[in-house]
Amino acid sequence: MKQSRAIETLQDAFESGRPLIYIHSAEEHRIDRLLRTVAFGCFEPPLTVFEWALTTGLRDAAGSSAAAGLHEPRKLLDFIAEYPGAAVFHLKDFHEPLREDPAVRRRLRDLYELCFDRKKFLVITSAVQFIPEELARNILLLELGLPDAEELQSLLRDETAILRQLGQPVELDDHYLLPLARALQGLTIDEARHAIRRALAHHRMLGSEAIPALLEEKRLVVNRTGLVQYVADGTTLDYVGGLEILKQWLLERRKLFQMRDQLSADIVPKGVLIMGISGCGKSLSVKAIASTFELPLYRIDMTEIFSGRHGPPETAFAQACKILEQISPAVCWFDELEMAVTSSESSGEQGRMFAFFLTWMQEKTRGLFVAATANRIDLLPAEMIRKGRFDEVFFVDLPTDDERVEIFRIHLQRRGVDPSKFDLERLKRFTKGWTGAECEQCVVSALTTAKLEERALTDDDLLNATATIVPLSKTMKEQVDHIREWAFERAVRASPREVVR
Ligand SMILES: Nc1ncnc2c1ncn2[C@@H]1O[C@H](COP(=O)(O)OP(=O)(O)O)[C@@H](O)[C@H]1O
Ligand SMILES: [Mg+2]
Repeated sequence: MKQSRAIETLQDAFESGRPLIYIHSAEEHRIDRLLRTVAFGCFEPPLTVFEWALTTGLRDAAGSSAAAGLHEPRKLLDFIAEYPGAAVFHLKDFHEPLREDPAVRRRLRDLYELCFDRKKFLVITSAVQFIPEELARNILLLELGLPDAEELQSLLRDETAILRQLGQPVELDDHYLLPLARALQGLTIDEARHAIRRALAHHRMLGSEAIPALLEEKRLVVNRTGLVQYVADGTTLDYVGGLEILKQWLLERRKLFQMRDQLSADIVPKGVLIMGISGCGKSLSVKAIASTFELPLYRIDMTEIFSGRHGPPETAFAQACKILEQISPAVCWFDELEMAVTSSESSGEQGRMFAFFLTWMQEKTRGLFVAATANRIDLLPAEMIRKGRFDEVFFVDLPTDDERVEIFRIHLQRRGVDPSKFDLERLKRFTKGWTGAECEQCVVSALTTAKLEERALTDDDLLNATATIVPLSKTMKEQVDHIREWAFERAVRASPREVVR
């Protein structure tokens, strides 16, 4: 099996020979495991691993006290200096002694020299990042990031093994190891462990049936940050009426995206920008992209980014992008991107956000496909839509006559009504200029009337309902015209042009 990114990071650090390593992380448990894997797996003979905490003193791998009186940080460092063999010393929450005691800081500098190239490593872990200035050159700071699929696969194996040792009849279906790990990606090891245990409480088997439970657990955890939401939605391309050009393009991109590891970077699909009149299926299409690509969908809420609840918008935005990198592979959806323009306090703030976004688009991992949507793309800066940023910029227009027929058909069908029994050709003449959302609203309102009268839906119900809806293209004619005109020369139409008969 491939090595996890975390193991590789640690191994590189050890191989560089630098004896003082600071891991900024609250996941002590995870780091314990990783350090053991590296100490045993990558060194011949294996390195001894010790753990230290202020409360327990120094303990060896078996958990017994290594020597008495080592609770005191300075004594501990003396012990390490004298220790004759090769070893890893995992010092938990050592930022406190570092901060408080100048003698500890001094002693660490001595230790740097004493341990260099002797296979003696001090690994400090702490949820707080505190590296004193005089040690900045000596200490190697590491961020491990969230566990990747490899690390999660070994967690799945270990957890099932542990539970079986405890006498629980649990099983792991090896065929599903990777999909299970992918379902957990984006969680910390602790969160993943909880998710596994919760899933096992329902089924005894970690296989295909456990995946929805794991995804649900992830949805709860990821949504807690408020910046990025996991969208659980089964919309497929069959639910999208019309937009044939966009659909065709997506099917081609799917193929390329799935081959992403074999392709050169400029061919791997990066993302798509879908703009257009509101209610015509932009959000719907993005949900369908995720199911077409068979990837989870995460939505970045621009309103939340600008709410101030997560610090300045630029910081919040950068943080959201960082979360996304860690849950790759995924489709990430930046919804209503123009919010960045309408909510910014200054044009400087706006400019910095977009600049960051565009750079990130170029540099992000291959596993992320960006789907951005905007109602008012004309408000966005010109560089957003310049060729090469997104793979394509699509304009979703008001649906054509034929597309509306298809949309009516889809929505009748979704509500258990057989569309072949209705005169949709007649209906389309009364719904010119309507959005998809308005067609849907018409179906809902006609069905409501029929239900109230306790009878089946008729053509007349649908026709009567058309009279009650005033379409956006009438109430906001100017804005709609403006968007259409603007998009005409700057974006690719998502649908073929209307055939005038
Ligand atoms: N092309 C379409 N095909 C089927 N349903 C549509 C279409 N366009 C809009 N709808 C219906 O209208 C709803 C709102 O559309 P949405 O995708 O949210 O619009 P927006 O373009 O504003 O994101 C959808 O959930 C769907 O039910
Ligand atoms: Mg939308």
